[in-house]
Amino acid sequence: MRIAVTGIKGQLGRTLAPLLEREHTVLGLDLPEDDITNLNILDTLQRLAPDLVVHAAAMTHVDGCAVDPDAAYRANALGTRNVALACQRANAVMMYLSTNEVFDGAKDAPYLEFDETRPINPYAASKLAGERFVQSLLNRYYIVRTAWLFGCEGANFVTRITQLADQLGELRVVTDEIGSPTYARDLAEALCRLIKTDVWGVYHLTNSGGCSRYDFARRILELSGRSGVPVTPITSSEFQRSSCPPRYSCLRNFCAASLGITLRSWEEALAAYLLEMGPHATRTE
Ligand SMILES: NC(=O)c1ccc[n+]([C@@H]2O[C@H](COP(=O)([O-])OP(=O)(O)OC[C@H]3O[C@@H](n4cnc5c(N)ncnc54)[C@H](OP(=O)(O)O)[C@@H]3O)[C@@H](O)[C@H]2O)c1
Repeated sequence: MRIAVTGIKGQLGRTLAPLLEREHTVLGLDLPEDDITNLNILDTLQRLAPDLVVHAAAMTHVDGCAVDPDAAYRANALGTRNVALACQRANAVMMYLSTNEVFDGAKDAPYLEFDETRPINPYAASKLAGERFVQSLLNRYYIVRTAWLFGCEGANFVTRITQLADQLGELRVVTDEIGSPTYARDLAEALCRLIKTDVWGVYHLTNSGGCSRYDFARRILELSGRSGVPVTPITSSEFQRSSCPPRYSCLRNFCAASLGITLRSWEEALAAYLLEMGPHATRTE
C-alpha cells in the first residue's frame, strides 16, 4: 500500500515509519511544509494518492492546549477535518490517533471503546472533535485511542523522570493520575496489524494494565538503576499545571483483542524500552 503518515517527525511517526516501510511505501508529512491546518493539505494528499493515511500529527502539548484552546481546535479538530476531507477526495482509508483523555476519569475500571466520552480539558475536547469529523466524513476509518506514549524518539515521561532524577536527586510525583503507559514501538506494531484487517471502528490500544504517575516513576527509576532516588508522593492539587487530566483513564482493548491484536503489560514494555535505550537511559548504581 501507499501509506501517508502525518506527524512523521513526532514520537509515534518516527517509530511507525520504519515498521510500515517493511511492507509498504511510506509518504511522510509534517511541519513546516505540510501544515494540516492549511487547506493545501488536501491537494498535497490528493497528489500523493495514498491508499491509507495515518494521521498522527496533532498539537500534543496538553498544557499548551489549555493555555490556547483556539490553537488546539485549529490543529486537532480542523486539522483532522482537513485530513478526513483529503481521504474522502483520495478515496483513502484513514487511521486517526486519538487519546485516553476523551474520558472524564470518573470510572474506576478500564474504559471500553463503547463507553461515553466526556472530555474535561481543551486538548481532549479538540481531539474528540477530530474523532467526530472522521466519523461524520468517512466510512472507512480506524480511530485508535492510545495513552502515555514513550518511544525512543523525542521527550516523554520516562526521559523526563530520568533526567530530573539525575539533575535534582529527588522527585515529587502525583499519585492521583492513573493511566496506561504505552511503548510507541508496541503501539506501532499493533497499528501495522490493524491496518491489515479492514475492520473499521474505534479501538483502544495501550500496553495492558495501568498505574499512577507515582508508580510509573518508581518503576522507571528501579529499572534504570536509580532506585536510590527518593520520590515523594503528592496529589494533583499540589502540582501546578494549566490543564486538568482525567483522574483515571486506563483503556481496555476490547475490539482489537477480538481480532487477535493485544499488547504486553506496561511493565514488560518499559523494561524492553529501557534496554533498547541503552546506557544513557540506564545507569549502574
Ligand atoms: N504522546 C502521547 O502520550 C499520546 C497519548 C495519547 C494520544 N496521542 C496521540 O498520538 C498521536 C501521536 O503522538 P506523538 O506523541 O507522536 O506526538 P508528537 O511527538 O507531538 O508528534 C506530533 C507531530 O505532529 C506535528 N504537528 C503539530 N502540528 C501540526 C500541524 N499543524 N501540521 C502538521 N504537523 C503538525 C508536530 O510537529 P512540531 O513538533 O513541530 O509541533 C510533530 O512532529 C497524536 O495524535 C496524539 O494526540 C499521544
